[in-house]
Amino acid sequence: MTYVNSLCMAKSKNKTVYVCQSCGAQRSRWEGKCSDCGTWNSLVEETFSDASSGYGGKSGTQRGWVASNSASVQTLRLDQSLNEAKMQRMSTSISELDRVLGGGLAESSFVLLGGAPGIGKSTLLLQMAGGLAKNQKSVLYISAEESTNQSASRAHRLGIKYQSIEIASENNMNLILDLAEKMKPDVLIVDSVQTIFVPEVTAAPGSVSQVREAAGQLMMFAKRTKTAVVLIGHITKDGNLAGPKVLEHMVDCVLSFEGDSNTHFRLLRTLKNRFGSAQELGVFEMSSLGLREVLNPSELFLQERSQNRVGSSIFASLEGTRPILCEIQALTLNSNNSFPRRTSIGIDINRIHLLTAVLDRHLGIKLSFNDLYINVVGGLKIEEPGVDLAIAAAVLSTDRNEPIASDALYLGEIGLTGEIRAISFPEIRIREAVKLGFKQFYLPYFNKKHFEDPGLMKNINVNFLKSVHDLEKLNF
Ligand code: TYD
Ligand code: MG
Repeated sequence: MTYVNSLCMAKSKNKTVYVCQSCGAQRSRWEGKCSDCGTWNSLVEETFSDASSGYGGKSGTQRGWVASNSASVQTLRLDQSLNEAKMQRMSTSISELDRVLGGGLAESSFVLLGGAPGIGKSTLLLQMAGGLAKNQKSVLYISAEESTNQSASRAHRLGIKYQSIEIASENNMNLILDLAEKMKPDVLIVDSVQTIFVPEVTAAPGSVSQVREAAGQLMMFAKRTKTAVVLIGHITKDGNLAGPKVLEHMVDCVLSFEGDSNTHFRLLRTLKNRFGSAQELGVFEMSSLGLREVLNPSELFLQERSQNRVGSSIFASLEGTRPILCEIQALTLNSNNSFPRRTSIGIDINRIHLLTAVLDRHLGIKLSFNDLYINVVGGLKIEEPGVDLAIAAAVLSTDRNEPIASDALYLGEIGLTGEIRAISFPEIRIREAVKLGFKQFYLPYFNKKHFEDPGLMKNINVNFLKSVHDLEKLNF
């Protein structure tokens, strides 16, 4: 018997490893603290059979996915015309979703949609399936969470009736891939990664090894067959995608579906996109007939603005390529505590600490004796420092008890010395605000040079500010 034969005949052995449920690191022995990511008590014993190693190990070879020699590896010479190498995109017929994906669903892309349970992920992807079918694309929807009847009746209620959509309820990865191989859909949707399992991995569904192996096999399937694969993943309480970070590394695009389950707004955000901008935002509204796209979110976020505008200013946030107007509210109250309370929803609390220090020092408002509450209306989260001026205006307004004009917009970052720093793309933001009837603009002085279009400045009043002291002089 040759050495090779004896290797082939060796029994497939089970291997026990300890896997960190937070970062996916593997250890041969249990440790109280993961030495890779520093999480305590995150190592869990998992058993692998040798066959499962390396994305589809045994099943990959059986399916003929694994190239047997270098001759079967395809290469692409870069001197080819760009058209040949251009990626095909499929329109989902939902323009918000298309934009977030970077212009439609790219063929052979692997997309992960994350979100809290009940937020509307299955609904969104069923509607996406309907939109794709409208464009003559075939879709295989695997629901590992609901029965075929449940999914079908929901689709029916949403008015999705197309021959080219097939729904199956299955959670065995091998059967899912066999079915997909047979049906050759343009798009494969798998709902969800936490409920499917690879039989070769003995760990429970949802564990790190199962998630990694299942996602790996789906990635191989997407790349080899040029099928677009969309995978649903639940997020944990602390807002991370359940499963290891490797899942996010593996996929081409990570979308996050967010929203407060008490309100009907839903925000679809790109966290990573190999084929487009990673900062796009799509806005949806959950209704009794499924998700409706909100094509003009600024109107939506401003529609409930109160008549009493003390402590309420407007900022134009730039989400990817699109400006969205939002309301910033501030409230100050005399504090009885030696450490006054600072609460912020939608803006990083450290930013609020910095800003209160600057306003306290340079404008002499005694915020150190006041509790301060900041809120971005509509559940938006703003990370741009350009929101500083709008926060400062809202704080000044509540402190002085003076209402802010309803048609005023504030843009600018505030530095520690009280200077107002330039923001990016002021013209795009102003155009959006002008469309909604805004007429007074407060902008950093250093943005003055960016106003190349004289037509834009025609019927509006633009005030350029150099420091927070200029803000103090305003009567709102
Ligand atoms: P679902 O898509 O099942 O959420 P996920 O897959 O993220 O867990 O959506 C569930 C919620 O959406 C549920 O609370 C009901 C609500 N919903 C509507 O309000 N209208 C609808 O038309 C549909 C289908 C769901
Ligand atoms: Mg679901």
